[in-house]
Amino acid sequence: RTPDLRQIKTGSDDFGLMGYDPAFLNTANCKSAITFIDGDKGILEYRGYPIEQLAEKSSFLEVAYLLLKGELPTEKELSVFTDLVTHHTYVHENVKSFMDGFRYDAHPMSMLGSTVAALSGFYPDAKNIRDERSREIQITRLIAKMPTIAAFSYRHTMGLPYVYPSNDLSYVANFLTMMKHIGGAYKVHPVLEKALDVLFILHADHEQNCSTTSVRTVGSSQVDPYSAVAAGVGALYGPLHGGANEAVLRMLRDIGHVSKIPEFIKQVKGGEGEKKLMGFGHRVYKSYDPRAKVIKRVADEVFEVTGKNPLLDIALELERIALEDEYFVKRKLYPNVDFYSGLIYEAMGFQAEMFPVLFAIPRTVGWCAQWEEMVTDNEQKIARPRQIYTGATRRDYVAREKRT
Ligand code: ACO
Repeated sequence: RTPDLRQIKTGSDDFGLMGYDPAFLNTANCKSAITFIDGDKGILEYRGYPIEQLAEKSSFLEVAYLLLKGELPTEKELSVFTDLVTHHTYVHENVKSFMDGFRYDAHPMSMLGSTVAALSGFYPDAKNIRDERSREIQITRLIAKMPTIAAFSYRHTMGLPYVYPSNDLSYVANFLTMMKHIGGAYKVHPVLEKALDVLFILHADHEQNCSTTSVRTVGSSQVDPYSAVAAGVGALYGPLHGGANEAVLRMLRDIGHVSKIPEFIKQVKGGEGEKKLMGFGHRVYKSYDPRAKVIKRVADEVFEVTGKNPLLDIALELERIALEDEYFVKRKLYPNVDFYSGLIYEAMGFQAEMFPVLFAIPRTVGWCAQWEEMVTDNEQKIARPRQIYTGATRRDYVAREKRT
């Protein structure tokens, strides 16, 4: 165990040793056996399995099981788990009424976060976080209901009636049907179903990113998992995290044409960090994000069905130029998972507001796995960082009439 700060104080007037590490650039906040990243080599593994193999051979619910339980499931275990998740997809009718209360133009991510937080009121048994069986039920509910709430959020903004879950469809096909069904028979295209399943696998966990750290931090107060996961949704809503792929599309649209790329790059380099190449750079990856490599392949498959996203040519050329530019090379800035995902989502017919929601659905698995790991880790205590105080030194209160 790391020594307690107080143990290394040498006297009462000594504050003790304290690390100053804003944004936790170099601080491990926990021990974890879930996800391994080697940012220099571009390696991502879930429970030891390389992301490339999982994306190619596995399915999202199998990966969910792996992340949660630590091992790949047997046929029987996967069937039981799938059945469990499938039969928890419905939400209480009052959750639907709760969602009706949002303004017609509320952002789906804001509806998602608030509704997940509201689930804590619908399942008061969730506060039994020391009870293993209760934790398992809450985690199942979260993974199962996330697509339902996400689709309801979307349909609310579109003024469309909610579509209830179908228990005979796969996790992804059910979600797509709840999103897209408008009268008549809606049939999910198998290539798009597979593509979204792969994207869900790639987004399922990513160790101590901003949203997962938020879930762990809030969860460390021993609050119920709905409240903790709602904090994760909030963190993911930010433009530097889950909002980045939407920003990539905006950026590509602003550039408008491949001939304008050099001028844009010049602005990024001359802007003293003000203007960024969105979808580039990562706190941990200092080489090509392995998820971005898989996504490029998925993009080809999707565009065969949907037709090419016209922004793709700009994205490919932008990547080519940036990877040869000394500014980006020196700072080890490579495409991250968001550089191509927005292009795929747009080609599949998703509005940009849904992009962070499409991230939150699979990341719920990672949040839950990490929450479970945290609450069962005896070394974890309530998260409570210290600070370097930079304010005024002690002074006496000045009466209002004497202030200048
Ligand atoms: N475009 C241009 N310059 C950049 C970029 C970028 N995308 N990212 C970092 N830099 C520059 C910084 O200005 C800084 O330059 P300096 O050394 O001259 O000051 C240097 O590279 C280091 O960058 P930091 O900001 O210190 O890196 P940090 O680890 O804090 O940030 C982050 C990582 C937030 C992802 C950043 O790269 C960024 O904002 N990228 C664009 C947004 C994005 O794509 N986010 C998605 C991340 S992945 C995810 O959440 C799933």
